[in-house]
Amino acid sequence: MTEHHRVAIVTGGSRGIGRAVSLRLARDGHRVHVVYREAADEAAKVVQEIESAGGSARAHRADVADEARVNALVDEIAEQDGGVHVLVNNAAVIDDRLLLLTGTAGWEHVLRTNLTGPFLTSRAALPVMLDQGWGRIVNISSNSVRIPGPGQSAYAASKGGLEALTRALAAEVGHKGIRINTVAPGKVRTDMTTAVADLLGEDGAGTRWGVPEDIGSVVAFLAGDEADYIQGQTITVDGGRLVMRNRPGGGRSA
Ligand SMILES: NC(=O)c1ccc[n+]([C@@H]2O[C@H](COP(=O)([O-])OP(=O)(O)OC[C@H]3O[C@@H](n4cnc5c(N)ncnc54)[C@H](OP(=O)(O)O)[C@@H]3O)[C@@H](O)[C@H]2O)c1
Repeated sequence: MTEHHRVAIVTGGSRGIGRAVSLRLARDGHRVHVVYREAADEAAKVVQEIESAGGSARAHRADVADEARVNALVDEIAEQDGGVHVLVNNAAVIDDRLLLLTGTAGWEHVLRTNLTGPFLTSRAALPVMLDQGWGRIVNISSNSVRIPGPGQSAYAASKGGLEALTRALAAEVGHKGIRINTVAPGKVRTDMTTAVADLLGEDGAGTRWGVPEDIGSVVAFLAGDEADYIQGQTITVDGGRLVMRNRPGGGRSA
């Protein structure tokens, strides 16, 4: 199977890291399904950009936490395109607040989007991947699992759960030609982080802020044939922030 015929679904593909992942996978020859929740104009722009560069893409409005919608969407894509080869679980929300100020509804919203969402999309796509005997799931976690800032209980818990889901699922279906890995970005300038990035500037440990393309290239690698021997792993992509945090002046947290 050549990558030219592969079908990829990128959740949260309308903006930030998901946009960069969508553009990169399209450049690598995938037909890309850009899933968004609200930003229809942004998603349409991503599709337009892919098509003007000679690629193939479609945008779909879907909340990854909506079980019925996720099932219907994956079925529709698999039927129309004849398969689903790559699933990138990138969509997420952040709602940082101290635990004592975290309401149950807020906690559940973060967990439902960031963890239940990838469960639903993976469960919907897996039967198709198992039939193909080939599939790639790339989950987008966060450095916050290892170096959480204050107020990140819900977000870090959701991403820690996602990394555990990655390993468990890899053990479950890895022998069926499916690879499941996680990319854990450090600090990347997107709508999610612009305010913090402007406030903090460069990191105290001397690392620059990442750009979405830093993550897109690693996701594309994990989505391809060359990553066949990588299974159930979390690859940190943070410019070295994690390893440098114990140096004097390091470890400043966003
Ligand atoms: N930026 C960073 O520094 C950083 C660091 C570590 C990890 N990450 C992770 O990287 C991923 C992308 O982050 P980002 O900074 O690019 O975020 P972003 O700019 O805020 O974009 C979030 C994307 O997710 C979509 N989305 C949110 N909730 C959704 C839902 N329920 N259903 C479907 N789509 C939904 C949004 O759709 P709409 O456009 O329609 O709203 C948007 O496309 C996330 O998993 C995030 O946790 C980011």
